[in-house]
Amino acid sequence: MTKRLKIAIQSKGRLAEESLDLLQACGIKFRRSKDKLFWYGENFPLDVIRLRDDDIPQVMNAGVCELGIVGENVAAEVRYELEKLGKSVEFELLEALGFGRCRLSIAAPEGGVFETLASLNGKTIATSYPYILSAFLKDNDVQANVVELKGSVEIAPSLGVADAIADLVSTGSTLVAHRLAELDVMLQSEAGLYQSMCEKTVEQQELIDRLLLRIRGYQSAQASKYVMLHAPKNKIDAITAILPGVETPTLMNLEHDEERVALHAVCKEGVFWGHLEELKEAGASAILVLPVEKMLG
Ligand code: PRP
Ligand code: ZN
Repeated sequence: MTKRLKIAIQSKGRLAEESLDLLQACGIKFRRSKDKLFWYGENFPLDVIRLRDDDIPQVMNAGVCELGIVGENVAAEVRYELEKLGKSVEFELLEALGFGRCRLSIAAPEGGVFETLASLNGKTIATSYPYILSAFLKDNDVQANVVELKGSVEIAPSLGVADAIADLVSTGSTLVAHRLAELDVMLQSEAGLYQSMCEKTVEQQELIDRLLLRIRGYQSAQASKYVMLHAPKNKIDAITAILPGVETPTLMNLEHDEERVALHAVCKEGVFWGHLEELKEAGASAILVLPVEKMLG
């Protein structure tokens, strides 16, 4: 009976670094193989297998890896493909991870004749996401030819290979550089932690629960700030109301100061300069905002 878990993550590309960072931020220390494709969890029984992104949903589907971190765009493409081929989908999203945000969009040369989705009827669209694109076109009653390209999709129109493209857009700079304009968004995406629906041992299920708890703890710590300030006693409620995501603050007496207290609180939402200005206006002083490193429960 195996007591370790395997997680598949991207070996290179947009999610590679942040996926590893997340696992390390969960306190897991790894020993790397020479080729850096296998990372052995030394203080937590989780091993990392680094693959091409398109292969990550496939290894979960085959039950070879219990977990995977991959973009929702890639997971959706594989899901559509499996469904189309009549095969069962054996993986599911456990938790959206909040990084690697992007969208899958249809784009066509700027200032050209294609300004709406309908204008692509009878035309050719190049993409690395043929299944998502075909489903989207079908839903929108557009009949277009889909050409699958593994890469460099953005140059297809200028090569005369396609009239338009369907591709990932993150910052949008690739579209700008190739003078392409977005016509429609097919899918919004971010990195996700997925699990295989393969059979797991009791130990493995417990490990998944523990990992998930640590990931959630890390995510809420990321978003949280510890705020300390001095507040006039008659302004405590007004000041607490300004602090984002605070239920009850801690109040402490200040030596030799009858008028004011020290107020400490964990803000579970972002604290911005605007908040600090409002706090100051409400009478707060000595305002300090500190990052929260870890959080559980
Ligand atoms: C995607 C996409 C574009 C680029 C868009 O490729 O194919 O080339 O990113 O990003 P931007 O809007 O920030 O310019 P990616 O880097 O994911 O490589 P891949 O196609 O090999 O997966
Ligand atoms: Zn890719």
